Amino acid sequence: MSLLSGVSGFFGLDIGSTAVRLVELHGTGSQRSLAKYAYMPIDAKLALSDSANDQQRLGQAIAQLVTQARVSTRNVAVGVPSQRVFTTVADIDRLPQAELAKAIRYQADALLPTPLAESKIDWAMLGDSPADKTKVEILLSSVPNNFIEQRLDMLEGIGLNVIAFEPDNLALSRALTAGGQNDVQLLLDMGEKSTDLVIVANGQPKLTRAIPTGMEAIIRSAVQNLNVDEAQAKQFVMKFGLGKEKLEGQVYQGIIGTVELLTAEIEKSIKFFQTRYTNQKIERMIVTGGASVLPEFPIYLANKFGVNVEIGNSWRNVQFSGGRENELLAISNQFGVAVGLAERTE
Ligand SMILES: Nc1ncnc2c1ncn2[C@@H]1O[C@H](COP(=O)(O)OP(=O)(O)OP(=O)(O)O)[C@@H](O)[C@H]1O
Ligand SMILES: [Mg+2]
Repeated sequence: MSLLSGVSGFFGLDIGSTAVRLVELHGTGSQRSLAKYAYMPIDAKLALSDSANDQQRLGQAIAQLVTQARVSTRNVAVGVPSQRVFTTVADIDRLPQAELAKAIRYQADALLPTPLAESKIDWAMLGDSPADKTKVEILLSSVPNNFIEQRLDMLEGIGLNVIAFEPDNLALSRALTAGGQNDVQLLLDMGEKSTDLVIVANGQPKLTRAIPTGMEAIIRSAVQNLNVDEAQAKQFVMKFGLGKEKLEGQVYQGIIGTVELLTAEIEKSIKFFQTRYTNQKIERMIVTGGASVLPEFPIYLANKFGVNVEIGNSWRNVQFSGGRENELLAISNQFGVAVGLAERTE
């Protein structure tokens, strides 16, 4: 293979709270094939800690991962955890490209919770506004500068060259959806501390949120209500989940309150989406992360919201040799963000 045969030139890096993961793809568009993937579990307090010592340990773990994976480049696209990102959809006057950026910056100040000078802002054009025919809608996001600078220092410190930062949930939606799908889908990635939600319509993310209820909260409620230790609670939850017939429904009873906190927030997001996109109905939910391994959670969602629920396939837009199917599907639920970052076009 020639060195110039469409090597994409970067890899995707997901710094999650339970593990760091990377994916490198070769080729372009629908012809992308898997070159490398790797992951390494980390201590859950490292990723969200701002202390210099924890940052250094996190850097060491990433350096080790990169070395082990033997990626072919130091260029990296990095995910930003959804808790650190503010995202909103805004209507902007229909303007020529050159004036648009200026107009968005001008309006951003009123739309964002943090001062413009302290945030890195980014936007993507979505298309015509559903609310006002004279306007277009954009997806606007902002991340605090100090978070970006800290991550940059850490990654440059281990010899990497960051080519892009992207919110986790935008990367996720790239991996889990395919071009040409016009229905409205709700993606749900249950992480350790929070659950990311993205509503995708016409192939575009229209609403994203991080809901502060994740696997940790579900396990904690099992610890409290079943009166068992954490390791046991985790076993019970992962084995029986929301199965009402299992263990006389004790696990179900122990965790349902916390699960309902989450589904109440999902419901709010759907309502909020539908106030803007009035005749758009959610047709499918796609679950990944902890949400796809919590037994009976997908069927619970299907009944509660009256939609089809599918287990996401993070590799759906990636080619790989036939023999690797089982190996890759087994880890699909934790690779959505890393794959989506690797699928970026720049
Ligand atoms: N196959 C599995 N068996 C047991 N637990 C799992 C499995 N897959 C995921 N989990 C658990 O689900 C939770 C979410 O996993 P995930 O890999 O999405 O987290 P993360 O990306 O590290 O966290 P975050 O996105 O919040 O930073 C974790 O607590 C993880 O231990
Ligand atoms: Mg994650």
